[in-house]
Amino acid sequence: MATSVTIVIAYMAMSVYAQQGAEQQEAARMAYYGTMQMDYAHYMLIAMASIVTLFFIWKTALRFTFHLRHLYAQANENQRYFARNDYHMALLKRYLVDAPLFRTRHNREFQLFHAVNLGSLPNRFQAICLAGLIAMNVSLCVLNIPFSDRKSYPELLRNRTGTLAVTNLIPMVILVGRNNPLIPLLGLSFDTWNFFHRWIARIAALEGIAHMLTFVVAEVKQSGWAALAKAIQGHRQITTGLIIIVGFVSLVLTGASPLRHAFYETFLHVHILLVLMTFVTLWYHLQDMPQQKYLLATLVLWVAELAVRLIINVYRNLIGGKTTAKVEALPGDASRITLKLARPWTVRPGQHVYICIPSIGLWTFHPFSVAWSEKQQALTDEKGLVMTQQDVVSTQTETISLLVRRRTGFTDRLYKHASKGIDGQAHLSAFVEGPYGEIHNLDSYGTVVLFAGGVGITHHIPFIRHLARGYADGVVAARRVTLIWTIKSPEHLEWVRPWMNTILQMDRRREILRIMLFITRPRSTNEIRSPSSTIEMFSGRPNIQTVLDKEIEQQIGAMGVMVCGSGALSDDVRHACRQRQVSSNIDYIEESFSW
Ligand SMILES: Cc1cc2nc3c(=O)[nH]c(=O)nc-3n(C[C@H](O)[C@H](O)[C@H](O)COP(=O)(O)OP(=O)(O)OC[C@H]3O[C@@H](n4cnc5c(N)ncnc54)[C@H](O)[C@@H]3O)c2cc1C
Ligand SMILES: *[C@@H]1O[C@H](CO)[C@@H](O)[C@H](O)[C@H]1NC(C)=O
Repeated sequence: MATSVTIVIAYMAMSVYAQQGAEQQEAARMAYYGTMQMDYAHYMLIAMASIVTLFFIWKTALRFTFHLRHLYAQANENQRYFARNDYHMALLKRYLVDAPLFRTRHNREFQLFHAVNLGSLPNRFQAICLAGLIAMNVSLCVLNIPFSDRKSYPELLRNRTGTLAVTNLIPMVILVGRNNPLIPLLGLSFDTWNFFHRWIARIAALEGIAHMLTFVVAEVKQSGWAALAKAIQGHRQITTGLIIIVGFVSLVLTGASPLRHAFYETFLHVHILLVLMTFVTLWYHLQDMPQQKYLLATLVLWVAELAVRLIINVYRNLIGGKTTAKVEALPGDASRITLKLARPWTVRPGQHVYICIPSIGLWTFHPFSVAWSEKQQALTDEKGLVMTQQDVVSTQTETISLLVRRRTGFTDRLYKHASKGIDGQAHLSAFVEGPYGEIHNLDSYGTVVLFAGGVGITHHIPFIRHLARGYADGVVAARRVTLIWTIKSPEHLEWVRPWMNTILQMDRRREILRIMLFITRPRSTNEIRSPSSTIEMFSGRPNIQTVLDKEIEQQIGAMGVMVCGSGALSDDVRHACRQRQVSSNIDYIEESFSW
């Protein structure tokens, strides 16, 4: 009897022990999956960083070859070697780097009806990166989830998708900053990074939705809808989760191209408020979880970017003087803004600044290309007496000028304000933030072809000035620079007249610069006059391929083709360049003035 009791007790003890063993095993298994999901999150960040690094190495190699070309070509008339193309590079440019996703369309927006555009297509290179990004996220969400284990897989899937959604916030916030260091490092413009910002956000939102669905499905399967309804009430994870999903989905929807472009300022304000709401809620949702540190990293990066902007603004506009703006209303719906800088910088081609004019646009900042810069010497003091040389240096002021096309918001109010002023001018105080951009260098191209549509000319003028001066000084490769500018009416010539006059009078300008003006809607034919052999005027639109082929016939060295104008113009120039990239060395560069 006693023995049998002992046996039973021993057996019971053993089974408890065994059960404990099973529980321990199960706990170890779950812990293993917990570590795994954090590992996967890290792999994702590492993969992204690796792609960026590879791209950086490639870009650095390219910059180095351009630099060598620049050094050699600046002193040599014979640049025939550089005019030939490298067959493999040509294919790469033609079919990948410069290619639109399908056929020719890239920038021209899909328009539903007037003013509502459905956005533009990514180019082939962006599309491939995006496909990689999606594939990586999908595989990391499901990799090594034991789908045969009916009981535990929903929770594992739930935790995995949630973790990846939060991890994606880190690259997402880095890419949207205007001070994103990848812009200068990789020489890719803000709008390219903004494209990835939007897609990473969409992926994170989908992962968030999957995270919620796995929870709902598991709950309903286990205990039915009634239990789910009960669980929703009062459970912190679930209420915060719901708010976050609503936040994410609203962010994605309000960020859609038509809304964003039609109501940019409203979009931006709503966007920031929604982000704040979502992130604060997410903070509570992730309380006591290791994933919270990813959100912390995201917040730190965001605050750091804002702080950099604040510092730039304070440094440029508040310490050591104020920035003032002279706004002139010009014929043809444009304004010229001349900013007197308290803290000047060395203006280089391709730069843009953000400006804020509180009396017109409150706290909003708008980006504009720097079209011109000038040092102005105050030669006389207030009483009209000539000052000594020393005083002259100390009163030197530097101005930069912007050309602003009138649209419907801030730019419209600015134009109206200036037209009401004396002589169509207004003097206002302003904030200037910058310089940004400046990612293209044309110094190593023997032939430079610049296509501009309308106000897109502002982006090209500094390049023309820089190359003409560089040619006279013998420090650039350029031997032939052609500007093809398409405008609606001759009055638009007024926009750039003072700057053009200066350029046209530059030393040895005639040897290098040719200008072709296309007027699409001339009022009469006698408006179309060609002032000289180097400045020609035509009516109608240019045939891009014909113009480009003429340049190729005369090509010296490598050819750089840059375009700034409407999406349709960019697409045409891109197409024309790709047609000739296999027979000649042509690089295509575009600036779109939007995102
Ligand atoms: C890098 C860059 C350089 C630019 N350079 C010039 C230039 O030299 N000359 C010029 O006339 N225009 C330039 N633009 C375009 C210019 O920023 C917009 O036309 C201007 O901000 C429109 O202001 P709005 O309130 O009148 O716009 P709206 O009439 O409300 O909108 C017109 C368009 O401008 C976009 N937009 C509006 N506000 C902003 C903003 N704060 N930031 C970005 N986009 C906005 C909208 O999405 C919309 O597509 C440039 C844009 C970029 C991105
Ligand atoms: C899933 O995440 C929750 C919350 O962090 C945690 O309590 C749970 O143990 C995790 N489950 C697994 C299987 O990792």
